[in-house]
Amino acid sequence: MKKDLLSIKDLSEKEIEDILSLAVRIKKNPLKFAEALKGQTLALIFEKPSNRTYVSFQVGMYQMGGNAVYLGPEHIKLGIRETIHDVAKTLSRYVNGIVLRTFGHQNAVDMARFASVPVINGLSDLSHPCQALSDIFTIREKLPNTKNITLAYVGDGNNVCNSLLYACSKTGINMHAGVPEGYDPDKDVLSGAQKLASGTGVRIRLFHNSRETVAGADVVYTDVWASMGQEAEAVERKKIFRDFQVNGNLMALASPKALVMHCLPAHRGEEITDEVIDSGNSVVFDQAENRLHVEKAILVKFLGGKK
Ligand code: CP
Ligand code: NVA
Repeated sequence: MKKDLLSIKDLSEKEIEDILSLAVRIKKNPLKFAEALKGQTLALIFEKPSNRTYVSFQVGMYQMGGNAVYLGPEHIKLGIRETIHDVAKTLSRYVNGIVLRTFGHQNAVDMARFASVPVINGLSDLSHPCQALSDIFTIREKLPNTKNITLAYVGDGNNVCNSLLYACSKTGINMHAGVPEGYDPDKDVLSGAQKLASGTGVRIRLFHNSRETVAGADVVYTDVWASMGQEAEAVERKKIFRDFQVNGNLMALASPKALVMHCLPAHRGEEITDEVIDSGNSVVFDQAENRLHVEKAILVKFLGGKK
């Protein structure tokens, strides 16, 4: 296994399965892991806001006997107060691992290169690997037979979409990404995921029509239309993404039992309506909870400790 978790691309199928099966054990019996990271400290460098990622990593460390230090934008000022190199070198003398939430993905790559401790990507503009791993965990929990199922992602071809493309292709789930023209997922990620899937029978497809994207889907997933850092485009994007709203009419085209997923935070009334996110098919808060269990497994795997 690589030292760092920057992208799902970096994990082999077996490593993904190992993380997910450890997460099952941790969720079932958290007390067994109460000392798994005893005495270890995690630095949480967050250049953007967070609820789930920040709290789940912090609580996860605490529940496993470790400790976490939050370093928000006002503390570190990556690349402004100090270079990424110097931050990475210094923190490596204090802590056992670093979670970084940042803008440019290159910041995460650089942090990983210069740090001697594991660096976990807690979201960059390109990817959100912890989210996607946890989403696969949730899908498997809800749909015990995931053979030949299709996840329809509707909305912006963003970090979450990119990580789901790799995660689906590596765990045997078909994925439709339905995005407006000009808002495609990263082209290297899309072709990489399609390449991985080719020959395995898994289909990874891009659509520019929301109705075709969700037709018959087993999971309908969406995320905000303007990600953190894109706030200035929010008004324009609302118009462009109008036909990509996950509402009752769109859900009527998916399988009647289709799971509704959203990484959260949600902009209710924009990418998803209240009627859908609060429906019986919605698993968004199970998804949020599972971030904790899966992140604990990620920490045990990458920081070491009792497996
Ligand atoms: N889904 C997710 O990463 O949520 P936060 O931005 O609140 O961490
Ligand atoms: N795409 C969103 C995900 C938030 C968890 C963002 O980057 O803001």
